[in-house]
Amino acid sequence: MAYVVTKPCDGCKYTDCVVACPCDCFREGETMLYIDPRDCIDCDACVHECPVEAIFPEWDVPAEWTDYIALNAEMAMKLPAITEKKTPLVEPRE
Ligand code: F3S
Repeated sequence: MAYVVTKPCDGCKYTDCVVACPCDCFREGETMLYIDPRDCIDCDACVHECPVEAIFPEWDVPAEWTDYIALNAEMAMKLPAITEKKTPLVEPRE
């Protein structure tokens, strides 16, 4: 099992999740991040860091976003790792 980044991340990229990850699982796409399921250890640390609640465990991804499970696995193989927080694509939330 792994955690999955879903739709609310797309266009946001707050990247708070990245610094919480103890095993550098995040990969950076142009408009959103993805988690590499090969590296995720299901620790749950990233979930509570995301201001827009974009991250779910694979077994709990909302029905309308289950396509993101395969998308995370696919995109993670193509994209570079991101391990440091960056400026979000939108205004930071308080
Ligand atoms: Fe995206 Fe949330 Fe991380 S918006 S970059 S999953 S903190």
